[in-house]
Parts: sequence; structure tokens; C-alpha cells
Amino acid sequence: MAWPPHWPCCGGSGQNSQFRVRVTGRAEREGTTRTQARRDEPATAGGPVQLIAGLFASEGAAEYLGEPVTQAAHMLQAAALAERDGADPALVAAALLHDVGHFTSTVSGQDLMRGTDNAHGAAGAAWLGQWFGPEVTEPVRLHVAAKRYLCAAEPGYAATLSEASVYTLKVQGGPMQGAELAEFAAGPHSAAAIRLRRWDDAAKDPAGPETLPQ
Ligand SMILES: [Fe+2]
Repeated sequence: MAWPPHWPCCGGSGQNSQFRVRVTGRAEREGTTRTQARRDEPATAGGPVQLIAGLFASEGAAEYLGEPVTQAAHMLQAAALAERDGADPALVAAALLHDVGHFTSTVSGQDLMRGTDNAHGAAGAAWLGQWFGPEVTEPVRLHVAAKRYLCAAEPGYAATLSEASVYTLKVQGGPMQGAELAEFAAGPHSAAAIRLRRWDDAAKDPAGPETLPQ
């Protein structure tokens, strides 16, 4: 994958005039300070591509919540799998960015592993919505819902999940039930979210890429 990628968003990789992110160090990250996106601060130099690349290099270097890869490697692998499977650029971007909500939610990924749902799909979608349309943000928003759907609707799927993913499933509400199933399936972005979910589940290879291509 070329980096910076061709982003399927308004403004491409250009400047964003209303946005700045504060990227914390690891010591801060594990304490009370979170990466915070603030619309009320002036723009960063470089725009969203540099901003996101900075998150991959800082927050992304952390372990991916009980999995044998870093968070950045996990998302890069998900995007590589999406490309391999011929996904369109928007869905490749969604795969690349699907867990960015772990960095931007007010509740951390570590809190998720301690039993508090950080709603990282919704947090990531809201953050990405500054630059991307629903073809990117909706699969991101729905990728946890897709896991909950597949656990209920697809025999054998739950048995393929990692130990950490089984744990977070409980925190995130468990398998869907009743009307929730049909409601999810009828959504216009459910198929894309399910595709993203399968790449997400597979993108935990400790021998896979761990850095951004130069
Ligand atoms: Fe993920």
C-alpha cells in the first residue's frame, strides 16, 4: 500500500483548517490523559494524513489489547487484507482506520479490557467524519456490531474469535438477539461492516507488517 494513501475523503491529503490533535506519550496514555481531538483549536501543519500517521506512530505502537501485534500493525494488516480481496478504496481506508477510536474515545482501550465498553467504533467514526463520508465511517462504526451479528447469525463464527475478542464481545453486549439481528442486516452498510470484521479478525499475525511502508 502506498503511503500516504489516496484518501477517499473531501480535501484528500490537504490541509484541514479547523482541526488539531494532541498526541500524548505512552506514559500519559496509560494514565489519565487521552489523545484528544479538539475542533476549537487551530489547524496542524500537514492535515489529516500527517495527523493519522502520527497516531499510528505514537498510540499505534502500543500492544493491541491482548493480541500478539501492535495496534498499528493490526490496522495495517486489516487494510492489506482488504486490498488483497479487491475492496474499493473507501473500504480499504475503513479497514486501515477501523480501530482509531481506541485512540480518540474518552474511554481507553485499556478500560475496554478492564470491562468498560469504550464504544470505539462510534468514537472512531465520529472522529473520521471530519474528513470521510459514510462509505468509510459506517463500516468503522459498525465493525463491533458486525461481530455481535456474526456470533448470532453464523454458526461457527464465534469459535474463530481470539481470546481477547471473546472477552470484549461480552463487554460490548454479547451476540445480537431478536429484532437487533434483522435491523443490522437491513442496514445499508452491514455487508461492508461484515467484510471489515472478517479482515479485523484475521489481522493479528505477529509475522505480518508492523510499520508503514516508506
Ligand atoms: Fe480491530
